[in-house]
Amino acid sequence: MRQDDRAPFDRALHRARLAAYSSGEFVGQESFMTAGEIRALALQAGIGPGVAVLDLCCGIAGPGRLITRELDCDYLGLDASASAVAIARERAAGLPCRFAVAQVPPLPAGAFDVVLLLETMLAFADKDALVRAVAAALRPGGRFAFTFEEGPPLTRSERAAMPDAETVRLTPLDDLTASLERAGLALTCVEDHSRAHRATAQALMDAFAADAAEIAAQVGRRALDELIAAHRLWVEWLDAGRVRKLAIVTERPRSSVERQRPVGEREAEPDDRERDDEDDAFDRVAARAAEVPQDQGPRDDDEPEFDVQRRGAPEAVVTGKRAARGDQHRERRQGGPAEAAGDRAQLLAVGAAQRGDDRDRQDELAADEQRHREHVQPADGEPPGAHAVRV
Ligand SMILES: C[S@@+](CC[C@H](N)C(=O)[O-])C[C@H]1O[C@@H](n2cnc3c(N)ncnc32)[C@H](O)[C@@H]1O
Repeated sequence: MRQDDRAPFDRALHRARLAAYSSGEFVGQESFMTAGEIRALALQAGIGPGVAVLDLCCGIAGPGRLITRELDCDYLGLDASASAVAIARERAAGLPCRFAVAQVPPLPAGAFDVVLLLETMLAFADKDALVRAVAAALRPGGRFAFTFEEGPPLTRSERAAMPDAETVRLTPLDDLTASLERAGLALTCVEDHSRAHRATAQALMDAFAADAAEIAAQVGRRALDELIAAHRLWVEWLDAGRVRKLAIVTERPRSSVERQRPVGEREAEPDDRERDDEDDAFDRVAARAAEVPQDQGPRDDDEPEFDVQRRGAPEAVVTGKRAARGDQHRERRQGGPAEAAGDRAQLLAVGAAQRGDDRDRQDELAADEQRHREHVQPADGEPPGAHAVRV
């Protein structure tokens, strides 16, 4: 439901949210995901030290703070709600998170390693346009990781029963996969988290009901009733299979860049090697990013304030397919045409890699990943991959 001024809701719901999740699983998320599910999806998307992450619809950035703190990524969160971003910024003090108030799409120009969209795909009426914009924001080899509310669109009577139904746009999986395919994004992982999310929705509903007097005193009876009504419907729909909650990772293949070669640019020779393709891909992404005009002036709250700081010398990170499976594999290349420093979009394109020798990082990353995997709370007592679904 809409919570345009986030602060009163955040305050009012905090105690119930804390009670609804098991110990350590509430990290400020505004969703049905547990910390374990957020962590597992981040790892599946190959998030790790220095990986450039764009978190769309970050809200107050509970997930963003978790992954920045634990995985040491290079994080930029965007949300349309100025009040949510204000809370996110305040709570992220001391962490190297960056935030901007922005309605998406459009997305900031640049080449991100990972785009995240947690628990908000349902708010987008035009998923095709969103997915296209995400694909353009990813560098070749980059991943789009998101949760997805799968099912036929709401009927008229379901819309009448669901508060703020215009932000609940269910979509059949076939339609989404067609959009992903058109945008050149390849599925690498689909997991069904419906049972776990049903349990979380029920726990949240019970906790809101238990704390009803306090919550109503802060946000009003009507807002509380709507909150409980929405959660009741999610429980029913997840129970009945009316909707499924899927966690999905897709990848922009490196070769897809060839399809976007500007008119007049040389076609690849049949004997061109993959390495050359990667070089070309990087050069074009960096060059495209460098074309985006700077905007250093004061920002209006209505405008996207892509507040990106400049960091270090430009270089590119190339992440292999294995990263999308959580098996971090990074190669570092020096230089490239991104040297026209000062352009913040360009810095997005190259901001991922200011780390030391990546070969040395491999061992650290593998150890980190192993540690995190050991902490992942399996959904419904099963490993996160246990509900992988066919697509
Ligand atoms: C359910 S919350 C999820 C927040 C966060 N991703 C999480 O998992 O905790 C949805 C958020 O999406 C934001 N939002 C919805 N549509 C948006 C859009 N088109 N552009 C930017 N933010 C949007 C809302 O302001 C809200 O903060």
